[in-house]
Amino acid sequence: MRVDSRTQEEKTAIMGENSKLLQTLAIDIGGSGIKVMVLDEQGNPLTDRDRLETPQPATPNAVLAAIVELAKDKEFDRVSVGYPGVVRQGITETAANISPEWIGFDLGSALTRHLGKPVRIVNDADMQGLGAVSGHGVEMVITLGTGFGSALFLNGRLVPNLEMGHHPFRKGETYEQQLGRAALDAVGKKRWNERLGKAIATLEHLFNYDMLYIGGGNTKKIELTLPANVKVVANVLGLLGGITLWKE
Ligand code: BGC
Repeated sequence: MRVDSRTQEEKTAIMGENSKLLQTLAIDIGGSGIKVMVLDEQGNPLTDRDRLETPQPATPNAVLAAIVELAKDKEFDRVSVGYPGVVRQGITETAANISPEWIGFDLGSALTRHLGKPVRIVNDADMQGLGAVSGHGVEMVITLGTGFGSALFLNGRLVPNLEMGHHPFRKGETYEQQLGRAALDAVGKKRWNERLGKAIATLEHLFNYDMLYIGGGNTKKIELTLPANVKVVANVLGLLGGITLWKE
């Protein structure tokens, strides 16, 4: 694993007396894996991506223990987290694909206590979008993984916690019921791709976005010819977006 081995003195010498090169531990809590990476101030990776299987059941305590394990050999000054549900001021409010114990959990305080550093938390699709968007016009993000994530940006500003995944889509089912991992396993790649094409058309009519970005582990199953304003983005952006959280 590549790590930034410079001492704080060396970093201070590079940046000048009053500034400090801050390293950010970016964490993506997913339904199947917990991924982390250390980023420099520009958002460049300073380590490889490190991953542990999401513990089952994915209770707050079990996930916190996995995060502490992943963080223990890393040097960082602050922490960014993408959480797979609605999150407001560090409190996780929904938990569709992880343990219901997360509902109302103060993840911000718990992580600050465990890691001893300031922590900022957003929805995982929001974090993916922060890494993906160009900052121009209406940009939408969907993520295809265990769940169906969504995010919306206007000129680079996030509208937090857009939850298209649990919104009705077709045949009495939600986007997540039709396009989440369980649906892909149940109906297979061909039908899942047909559904994805319909979802893109519906979302375009609803949001009239300038660009739609599609992220998440199941993008590798996409076999559609995508419209010009739809782009598949690398999953690692779900971690790289962690730097933008500190730019305000
Ligand atoms: C959650 C979203 C999340 C998505 C992807 C959905 O079930 O409601 O908040 O972004 O899964 O993890």
